[in-house]
Parts: sequence; C-alpha cells; structure tokens
Amino acid sequence: MRDWNPDLYRRFEDERTRPAAELLARVGLQAPRTVFDLGCGPGNSTELLMARFPQAEVVGTDNSPAMIEAARQRLSALRFELSDIAQWQPEQPPDLVYSNATLQWLPDHEQLLPRLFGTLAPGGVLAVQMPDNLDEPSHRLMRETAAEPRFAAHIGDAATVRARILPAGGYYDLLAPQADEVDVWRTTYHHRMGSPGDIVQWLRSTGLKPFVEVLPEALQPEFLAAYEERIADAYPARSDGSRLLAFPRLFIVARKRS
Ligand SMILES: C[S@@+](CC[C@H](N)C(=O)[O-])C[C@H]1O[C@@H](n2cnc3c(N)ncnc32)[C@H](O)[C@@H]1O
Repeated sequence: MRDWNPDLYRRFEDERTRPAAELLARVGLQAPRTVFDLGCGPGNSTELLMARFPQAEVVGTDNSPAMIEAARQRLSALRFELSDIAQWQPEQPPDLVYSNATLQWLPDHEQLLPRLFGTLAPGGVLAVQMPDNLDEPSHRLMRETAAEPRFAAHIGDAATVRARILPAGGYYDLLAPQADEVDVWRTTYHHRMGSPGDIVQWLRSTGLKPFVEVLPEALQPEFLAAYEERIADAYPARSDGSRLLAFPRLFIVARKRS
C-alpha cells in the first residue's frame, strides 16, 4: 500500500479517538512500566496512553513513515519506531500491548494474536480494537463500485482487498488458554456526518485507500463520485439533514496469566 495521509486521517480525529479511549478505559493495569501502541498513526492513541500512564515508557510503532513523522511532531518526548507489526518483537516483555484500529490491516489473526499476547510479561494486557464493518453498506458499496468493469480492470477481486477479522468467540478461544481474563465486546457507533461527501472523506484515508490508490489518477475522481452516489442512497438524511455512519467495532482486552 502507498503511504498514509495523516492530515486526511486527522480530519475526524475526535470520532476516531473515541473507541481508543473506550478501549483504554477497560485496561485495568495500575502502573505498567512498558507500553506499546502498535499502529500508532499520528499519535492520537499514543497521547491517551501517555496521559493515562505518565510514569510508563510509552513507545509508538507504525509502518507508515508519514504517520511516524506526524506522531513525532505531536509528542516529541516519546519514542516512535518505524516497524511492521507482522515482524514486531519487543526486546523486553512489555506490560501493555495496545492497538487501536490497526490489526484489521494484517492477515492471519490465528497466528498474530497469540504471538502478540505471547510477547507480554506475566499479568500483562493485550488491548485491541478493530473495525468490524466489512458487511456494512460503507464497505459493501466499495466492493460494488469496484466491480464496475471500468474499475475492476485495475482493482481485481474486491473481496480479497481486506481479510475478514474473526468472530468475537474466535479471539476468545485463541487467547483464553494463556489468559487469566479475556473481555470481548462489540459496539456499533453511529457517527454524525454532515453529508455523503463527508462519509467518503472519512473512508478515503482508511477503508477506501486500497481501492483508490491502485486506480490511474484520472479514474480516481470517477470512482469516488460513483461511490458517493451509492453512499447518498444508503445513508439517508436524518431529521436535521445529517447522515449517521453506522460503524461496528470489536474490542478485546486480555490479561496474560501471572
Ligand atoms: C486507522 S490508523 C489507527 C491510528 C491510531 N492507532 C488511532 O487510534 O487512530 C491505522 C494505522 O495502522 C498502521 N498500519 C497498518 N498496517 C500496519 C502494519 N502492518 N504494521 C504497522 N502499522 C500498520 C497505518 O500506517 C496507520 O497509521
């Protein structure tokens, strides 16, 4: 994938950071020494970790140079590392491995989640939130638009663009054998958006990215316009004219056996 765009991502930062805060609220650790934010993006989630655990060494990692640069500018006192989660291995076992809105971009969760959990110190916590929205109109309509012949020639099989995450019970089963406690829950947010164009902008920096970036530049506006038309029908105007973007998210907080 091409590099991420921190400015576009930050446009809806309040909405994107809310699940990060609600994930952190369920982490019961009192004074962790080492905390990692995997897929830290522009540092919005790392900032929450720093505020909650001021005594800890908080490290943000991301495989996007643009995101790491934005995070370093935002939180100059913290360490940020450019690394791919698929290969990430801490030097010492951390007390908290936290990842908000990132692991859905990685495949093979049956191996990945137990491996990340296994890096923790005894009693350490793995806290993960992932969008669970591939069956929402927002994502179904990306695939539908991508299947139009003028776009399909470039995008290929839209169903394979992003792997599905597991059902809640799948994560429970993977982590429970090494855990004292596994808490899994799913919440649907209904984000208030000003217009269909805002919904497209929201997704432009995340879910739409792999569809749009493989298109020739001349075709990109056509794809976004065709997608926005569908979005306008699927998310009707509410009583005040705004649109509600339904956004289900899966949360996991697991404490490793001490
Ligand atoms: C949706 S943003 C989440 C940012 C932030 N954690 C938040 O709570 O808003 C996803 C981030 O994951 C990063 N990312 C995606 N795949 C990754 C990988 N394999 N290794 C490391 N970072 C990855 C992206 O670069 C991006 O910054």
